[in-house]
Amino acid sequence: MTQLETYIKDNENYFVEDLKGWLRIPSISTLPEYANDVHRAAEYAAVQLRHIGLEHVEVIQTQGYPLVYADWLRASGKPIVLIYGHYDVQPVDPLELWETPPFEPTVREDNHMYARGAADDKGQMMLVLKALEALMTVNGTLPVNVRVLSEGEEEAGGTSIAHYVKTYPQRLHCDAVFICDTEMPSQDVPALICGLRGIIYTEVEVQGAKRDLHSGTYGGVAPNPLHALAIIISRLKNADGHIHIPGLYDKLREPSEAEKKLWREDPLHMNEALMQEMGVSQLSGELEYPPLQRIYARPTLEVHGIAGGFVGEGAKTVIPAVARAKISLRLPPNLKSDEVFTLFERAAKEAAPPDAQVTVRNIHGGEGVLTSPDSAPMKAAAEALKETYGKQPVLLGCGGSIPIAALFNEVLGVPIVMMGFGLASDSPHAPNENYSLDQFFKGIRTVASFLQKMGV
Ligand code: BES
Ligand code: MN
Ligand code: MN
Repeated sequence: MTQLETYIKDNENYFVEDLKGWLRIPSISTLPEYANDVHRAAEYAAVQLRHIGLEHVEVIQTQGYPLVYADWLRASGKPIVLIYGHYDVQPVDPLELWETPPFEPTVREDNHMYARGAADDKGQMMLVLKALEALMTVNGTLPVNVRVLSEGEEEAGGTSIAHYVKTYPQRLHCDAVFICDTEMPSQDVPALICGLRGIIYTEVEVQGAKRDLHSGTYGGVAPNPLHALAIIISRLKNADGHIHIPGLYDKLREPSEAEKKLWREDPLHMNEALMQEMGVSQLSGELEYPPLQRIYARPTLEVHGIAGGFVGEGAKTVIPAVARAKISLRLPPNLKSDEVFTLFERAAKEAAPPDAQVTVRNIHGGEGVLTSPDSAPMKAAAEALKETYGKQPVLLGCGGSIPIAALFNEVLGVPIVMMGFGLASDSPHAPNENYSLDQFFKGIRTVASFLQKMGV
């Protein structure tokens, strides 16, 4: 065993305790009542960065939640790697489905850590920090220069970091960006991610009468906003899975023949894995496209929740005055979020029955990105994964979004390495989110090796 491996092995328990401490902080960025906790999670990250021995550790205040920055630029002549991660987490509802409380991190019999954020992204970010710590402690130095930039608004659209990156690109000067916030297809198939989708997240509000109405007195003449919302939603995407927003598909990039062939042949059997993971017997959506194309390269429209009227126990005969739906669209890289929002707003209003007053709110948006697998940092990442997993990594897209990735690409213009150790069974954003501790420790070794290879 190398000294580095010994250090990692000897400190497993302490690494896990440091992760637990972070996971106990409910840093839910989309719910204002957790604002204090989001700030505490930022401070926790700063303590970790100082402990590693990084310099210029700073909790940078913004209009929203702070950014946490640190650097170590003493490896003269070596490349600078900008490491990104997020310390905020998603809401936990439905709480009753958690077998152990979301902010009481618990390692269950399967040797997975259960907590909100265990995988997305505190677990994955912590493993990167522990790789830095291990390298620094064992060698007294790092093999490359690093900057770390962590945000607390990723799950809420990442406005503050976007502003920072656009305003101070020179402070983030680097040769490569490294992001550990993605998944691999299974625990023995390592992956590098070469594309993310963008997103627009909206709220559609339908106003009917000026107040709630008795459904006997007014039923037959009153507008019903909930029903209007159902009509709008079903017109925007109907049973064939197509999205009926004029102009939406105009700029969609046609995938290459090689991509289409790969998606059709599906050598990793990801279609079956998807069904199994979801517990369904058939896949939904646009059946004429292979499932992987639907996830990586087609736009989607999803309803996340509908509110309005009466849903308590028993019955209440009321026609609601107002109804709301949260609706998002995932956007392959060529579709720009602002343009799509305009198209969406128009289409939603046009789809509404004449008695409905519709307002559409743009909650947040972010762009997708495609990255090249051929850069030197990607080659280093592939070698590191091959070393720890014994296999060449597969190159995959990702249906999810990390809004800042596209901006890093655009503003900093350097290769972006997306190497994550999450698994589909981690249940990110869902009850019982968890992270395999095997993956956590393997991740530490892999990231340490990646940084060493970057420094050669
Ligand atoms: N870590 C995810 C991105 C991701 C999703 C990676 C799926 C791998 C698989 C990230 O934290 C995330 O959830 N992003 C949000 C962004 C949005 C709220 C702007 C998403 O994709 O919903
Ligand atoms: Mn994430
Ligand atoms: Mn997430």
